[in-house]
Amino acid sequence: VRAVRVEAAARTYEVRIGADLLAGAGDALAAFARPGPVLVVTDGNVGPLWLPPALTSLRARGFAPETVTLPAGEGTKSISSADLLYRALARMEADRSTPVVALGGGVVSDLAGFVAATWLRGVPWLALPTSLLAMVDASVGGKTGVNLPAGKNLVGAFWPPVAVLADTATLATLPAREFRGGLAEVVKVAITLRPDLLDALAARPARFTSAADSGALDLLVPASVEAKACVVTGDEREAGPRRVLNFGHTAGHAIEAAAGYGAVHHGEAVAVGMVAALRISVRRGLLPSETESRLIALLRALGLPASQAELPAEVSPAAVRAFLSSDKKRRDGRLVLVLLAGIGRPVIVEDGAADEVLAALAG
Ligand SMILES: NC(=O)c1ccc[n+]([C@@H]2O[C@H](COP(=O)([O-])OP(=O)(O)OC[C@H]3O[C@@H](n4cnc5c(N)ncnc54)[C@H](O)[C@@H]3O)[C@@H](O)[C@H]2O)c1
Ligand SMILES: [Zn+2]
Repeated sequence: VRAVRVEAAARTYEVRIGADLLAGAGDALAAFARPGPVLVVTDGNVGPLWLPPALTSLRARGFAPETVTLPAGEGTKSISSADLLYRALARMEADRSTPVVALGGGVVSDLAGFVAATWLRGVPWLALPTSLLAMVDASVGGKTGVNLPAGKNLVGAFWPPVAVLADTATLATLPAREFRGGLAEVVKVAITLRPDLLDALAARPARFTSAADSGALDLLVPASVEAKACVVTGDEREAGPRRVLNFGHTAGHAIEAAAGYGAVHHGEAVAVGMVAALRISVRRGLLPSETESRLIALLRALGLPASQAELPAEVSPAAVRAFLSSDKKRRDGRLVLVLLAGIGRPVIVEDGAADEVLAALAG
């Protein structure tokens, strides 16, 4: 078991990473909460597979879990789901010390974390991430929230969990496309912050394309969590170092939105967005083109798309342009872009243009 400490404004907490950690959920929670009622939130895919070990462990430590299983999918990250959970907490007569447990992917943890942040202005919550994305990305940084019809993540709070148990054994049941989506964020972290991890990925890409190789997971999950923990410490609100995590995301978000949410996986869009960022870096004379080609080859070896033509859905350039010009990280009509001057050397520029991004996406 590996442990990574994350320092957030509200508290310092630990992300533990290893196989079969769900069996320790009760012990982990007992360090922060007294025995009694606990609200467990999961989704319809994860619950049937992974609730049993978590519930057994909670009960063994004297907790009385009340489970709410929501439909799987981004649609569940809504105000109406939050309302449903508040009603469950009210029924349970939950007080300031009643904890919430999130068992699932980023949808479940963002939603359950948000409910924990706002119920009685904040109760403790334990994160049990079961997707690669939730382990390496959503579990670090303290962001919680829900979507509105007007846009994703428009309502939220910074409210870190008391602890995160990333049970890598749960990844065995994660669909392959979801695994690869999470892998795109791992590659992002490796390119911008962890040359050692990038070398490991490049040396034997095939072993990282699924959860079958536990040694591969033991390498990539802790390294990614550590790297993200390092840049978010002291920069929760993205004024400084945390901004490098947007590598590939300016073009990526526009592609994801232009395709219509759900048609292209977030990770697939980010992979293509990273290629655009690499191409812009080469065109601006920051990056040698050999590095660009090497990274594109790595993305493909990992089963990730490296061009718009490789995406599962058609994306119109006009729609991408429209979403680029509504990018929330824009400054005075210019785009803030994360470019690359070498592996582990991200560069943030504030003079990006939509045309430049569109040209890079076109090839
Ligand atoms: N808070 C943050 O900092 C942060 C960071 C990144 C992403 N997010 C959010 O996370 C969400 C995406 O997370 P996600 O990709 O985990 O999506 P998700 O929660 O929808 O999970 C993806 C799919 O995999 C299924 N699944 C998860 N674990 C499984 C398992 N072990 N076995 C079988 N099926 C499993 C889920 O039921 C779902 O169908 C988005 O809403 C995004 O905004 C938040
Ligand atoms: Zn992302």
